[in-house]
Amino acid sequence: RGVKNVKDIVLQDTFSKEDLVALLQAEGNDRQLLFEAAYERKIQTIGNKVFFRGLVEFSNICSKDCLYCGIRKSNEKVVRYEASDEEILAACRFAWENRFGSVVLQSGELSSPAFVNRVDRLLRSIKQLSNNELGITLSCGEQSRETYRRWFESGAHRYLLRIESSSPELYAKIHPNNPQHSFEKRLECLRVLKNCGYQAGTGVMIGLPFQTMEQLADDLLFLKKIDVDMVGMGPYIEHEDTPLYAFRNQLKSKQERFDLALKMVAALRLLMPDINIAAATALQAIDPAGREKALKIGANVIMPNLTPCDFRKEYQLYEDKPCLDEDADLCRNCLEARIELAGGEIGYGEWGDSRHFFKRN
Ligand code: 5AD
Ligand code: FES
Repeated sequence: RGVKNVKDIVLQDTFSKEDLVALLQAEGNDRQLLFEAAYERKIQTIGNKVFFRGLVEFSNICSKDCLYCGIRKSNEKVVRYEASDEEILAACRFAWENRFGSVVLQSGELSSPAFVNRVDRLLRSIKQLSNNELGITLSCGEQSRETYRRWFESGAHRYLLRIESSSPELYAKIHPNNPQHSFEKRLECLRVLKNCGYQAGTGVMIGLPFQTMEQLADDLLFLKKIDVDMVGMGPYIEHEDTPLYAFRNQLKSKQERFDLALKMVAALRLLMPDINIAAATALQAIDPAGREKALKIGANVIMPNLTPCDFRKEYQLYEDKPCLDEDADLCRNCLEARIELAGGEIGYGEWGDSRHFFKRN
């Protein structure tokens, strides 16, 4: 028995770690076969609809210190902001009026009662202003079971919490060594979220220093094993004002990280054909057409940035974050055209729930 060909692997329904490593290493014609097979699998399983999630990065205040992240607590160069209720609700109203299926409220991680109450109030207001029509995803980090439950009852129905790396060893290398940054705690949060009834989304960074192909293949198997509904994953991009920047000379080139991220998306689509996969914004920081390329190889969700423009430059998780000074309208029009070019059809006015979520319930 010889080594399997990519051509044969892409036809399978189940994949071993070795299969996945082979997919991630595919070059030339094999790489093209992988991309085509993933796109095919997406069209056959969930069709060509692309769903918009209006992204509102409502605060960059963060109590954590992840070694890769530009808004980490110790970065004193960042001007901290909190968008006002009016600003946040205006962005959500824009999303609703433009028939985006849903919004994502994202922020740094805080767990003070004031923060928890504020998010709770915002959820109710968004439900109200949209006649209960807008779907709401939260991306506000690790919280207690009570908080997750409360936010669910107030109208959030999806939650994004990236595991960042499914390897506990790599996770430890890219986070400070203290209980606040525990891998186990993050895993537990994902379990609790599913338990509360959320559609749970997670994901990883691709091309981190010290990261191996085997770890990336394990990341894919991890996503399958914990049976997530949604995945967002993109290339790691160094940020000058973070500790991980010291390892920039160990990185693959940005182009290589970008390409590896596309292969991860394609391999994941083959592995989990009916989940929602986001075309990560970080792809666009490397290649202006990066997100559309991801739609062409298996992604089906895109997150137009609706953060008020004044705040965007202070929400730089990584370098070259795109759309720093475009307003939401412009973003939307150029997006429409580009999605059409990528063969997609925008699912206006639909929540665009993960099909996988309904199967597992
Ligand atoms: N490069 C790429 N992605 C990053 N994130 C944070 N910092 C970086 C970086 N330097 C991602 C993390 C986080 C998400 C909100 O942004 O995966 O979960
Ligand atoms: Fe804010 Fe990682 S630095 S959660």
